[in-house]
Amino acid sequence: MKKSLLFLIIVIVSCYTSMSQPPMGQAQTNQPPDIFISLGTQNTDLVYKVNGRNGKVYQAYLGSKLLNTASLSQLRDAGHQAYQTYGNENLFEPAIRMTHNDGNPSLELKYVSHNSEKTDANTTLTKILLKDPVYPVEVTLNIRSFAAEDVLEQWVEIVQKEAKPVKIYNYASSMLHFDADKYWLTQFHGDWAEEMKMQESELTSGIKIIDTKLGTRAHMYQTPVFFLSFNEKSDETTGELIAGTLGWSGNFQLLFELDEKNSLRAISGINPFASEYSLQPGKVFKTPSFIFTYSDKGKGLASRNLHRWARNYGVLDGNKTRLTLLNNWETTYFAFDEPKLTGLLDDTKKMGLDLFLLDDGWFANKYPRNNDRAGLGDWQENKAKLPNGLGYLVKEADAKGVKFGIWIEPEMVNPKSELYENHPDWVLRFPNRQEVYYRNQLTLDLTNPKVQEFVYNMVDEMLTKNPGIAFIKWDCNSMITNPYSAFLKDQQSHLYIDYVNNLYSVLDRLRKKYPSLPIMLCSGGGGRVDYGALRYFTEFWASDDTDPLERVYIQWGYSYFFPAISVCNHITSWGKQSLKFKTDVAMMGKMGYDIQINELNEKELKFSQDAIVNYKRLSDVIWHGDLYRLISPYEENRAVLMYVNNNRSKAVLFAYTLNSRYGEAFNRVRLQGLDPAKTYKIQEINPSTEGRRPGPPSEGGSSVRSYTGDYLMKVGLSVGSATPLTSAVFEITE
Ligand code: GLA
Repeated sequence: MKKSLLFLIIVIVSCYTSMSQPPMGQAQTNQPPDIFISLGTQNTDLVYKVNGRNGKVYQAYLGSKLLNTASLSQLRDAGHQAYQTYGNENLFEPAIRMTHNDGNPSLELKYVSHNSEKTDANTTLTKILLKDPVYPVEVTLNIRSFAAEDVLEQWVEIVQKEAKPVKIYNYASSMLHFDADKYWLTQFHGDWAEEMKMQESELTSGIKIIDTKLGTRAHMYQTPVFFLSFNEKSDETTGELIAGTLGWSGNFQLLFELDEKNSLRAISGINPFASEYSLQPGKVFKTPSFIFTYSDKGKGLASRNLHRWARNYGVLDGNKTRLTLLNNWETTYFAFDEPKLTGLLDDTKKMGLDLFLLDDGWFANKYPRNNDRAGLGDWQENKAKLPNGLGYLVKEADAKGVKFGIWIEPEMVNPKSELYENHPDWVLRFPNRQEVYYRNQLTLDLTNPKVQEFVYNMVDEMLTKNPGIAFIKWDCNSMITNPYSAFLKDQQSHLYIDYVNNLYSVLDRLRKKYPSLPIMLCSGGGGRVDYGALRYFTEFWASDDTDPLERVYIQWGYSYFFPAISVCNHITSWGKQSLKFKTDVAMMGKMGYDIQINELNEKELKFSQDAIVNYKRLSDVIWHGDLYRLISPYEENRAVLMYVNNNRSKAVLFAYTLNSRYGEAFNRVRLQGLDPAKTYKIQEINPSTEGRRPGPPSEGGSSVRSYTGDYLMKVGLSVGSATPLTSAVFEITE
């Protein structure tokens, strides 16, 4: 039984490869010494070993920090090869597979050199260069360690110098090995309006794959994130696990293979499906990054590690502030005109929000965008709706003291559009088959440089003409339904990869010119949420489902991997719950509105204005603080979570009662993350517009009470009532 907490490696190579000293009396061989390459963070070690005897690189250790990594020289086992090839000793799923010019389908990778470089005080980049002894193929394993966040980022670069292109079939970003008794995989799946449903299962022998083949809007059914818990299921505060995610906005594959020795390999990368890549001599094939953290204290710590990493490195301007906004999508859909929008600018101001976001429907003239069947691709203001153009609205917003933002969907086209009529070759479609549509639209061929130019110019011209535009919502409402590029000709299998890389290069160019313009990432809700894209985006639209009951689960799901500052939550008319419940649910992330302000009664308006003031006061803690999930909606009929700032002087707690049985009593909730020695003032905020909440009062009440951090974390508080669909928010101040 392998009970150890460490992932000590089990023998896969015969024992005489061991590192042990030669038996007494036996002469030293000329075998080069083993080399250990240590990639530590503050609390984690990942150690590779180069076996002196065969020159191959093995994963020697992954787990909590060792006092001394040199102790690994006592390991008697070779370990699992770090980046397994096909056609050599590996008979399981490879990380890499290719066919050479002479038709030879095998690859062997041996250590050449490595170097580690500190890129700043916190990050170290280690490159391990491997080479095939027979063919001119080089593979570099890149590992960046983020010390303070306990996060590791891995990617791979492949270069070949044969006479002609080689075909690569597998090109993983990361391969990790584990030896535990049992493995529990937590995955997140869904669909439109039901994103991020959590599912946990024990891995059994063989292969489990989580992937997508959608191309664009690629994460609609599966999000590229997972927890892998070892030996036992982990919970928020206990258990050993890794939390991993692939930064890739296209087809991804997360593969877990449990072999006959109960060893597990986790291979993460671009989905090789329909994507064999012809690699030109001298060109570098760079994989996307796999980002992961190891925790021996449950999922809560893993999330906090990832959140901190994301704010510092993964999400654009993750340590800065965000704009609160009023969006018009759910209140007007496509039906609006200038006076209506001007009225919404007034509403934005009246509410105390920062920005008005004009959604879909503002463009196209020959085929006006009055519904989702026409106009996509024709990015000129619709003259009937906006006779004075966007410029007028930007000016009006400015005059009213609010900012102006705009929705675009630049990668897509309706067949009913001038763009399609003029450039059918810019559209992904089969020349000889009937087109298949999703939401009546098609995807533009971003592999074509002319299309890249079109998308870049469309955004650039809009921003140049209207420098007052202060926010963009970048949508992507269809998957690739007709996977054929006129531009790629006989290299159709490059489509899924080149599409995403070229999307990134367009975004790169835009970000060079507009480095800090806030842009919301949207894809028919949460159909594109990953750290490959979030480098360019300040936030993302979590779901078109804004029913707050559903939202508790969706936002809970995202909270495992993405920081609150990046998750946009709007208060809308979906759901019959109270305005208070909706507001309290939206507040746990980046709050916004998409509701008829003029239909709010006086009390509701006042409630909302006060809530926005509260939110602005607390947003620093919500956006930049540490998240503690206290009670999961997957385990109880309620959800409770809190954020705590860095110096533990300020916190905010959200409690949502989702359902309850007759007579059900909810236990007190023990808080986390506070300073036991500090005394905290607790005040309930966002009081209900319907007067006193029914049910027993929670301890915050309307009066301010004081408790020590020690009391709050050991004894706890009773928070919220047992009445279904009620909520409470507590401001906690030292
Ligand atoms: C998608 C988005 C919505 C809205 C519509 C507009 O569905 O998720 O928020 O912008 O497109 O068509």
